[in-house]
Amino acid sequence: MEEDLIKITVTDREGVVHELDAPTDMAMNVMEVCKAHELPVEGTCGGMALCASCHVYVNSDHELSEASDDEEDMLDQAFFVEDNSRLGCQIKIKAELEGLKITLAPVGD
Ligand code: FES
Repeated sequence: MEEDLIKITVTDREGVVHELDAPTDMAMNVMEVCKAHELPVEGTCGGMALCASCHVYVNSDHELSEASDDEEDMLDQAFFVEDNSRLGCQIKIKAELEGLKITLAPVGD
């Protein structure tokens, strides 16, 4: 079922680029897709916008849903936040995100 998969490109913390297949019909988010491909994304809170361990930078100009207040609050407390910072768990995989490019943010100690 080709049409139910999109490709997203994830650059890991070592600068290695991964092209991942992401299903659009399983209500997955970017954090879950990264984990499913064994990239080093913790997703400690399970996608509740409560931990920022899924912090990513969005490098393509896809239209994303607005960050919720919870996401903004979490990003306020995260390390290495940039203008294009988002929480991966708050980016839902959908067909419009074909070709999305993100970079995993560094982890703060
Ligand atoms: Fe915790 Fe995204 S997994 S904020």
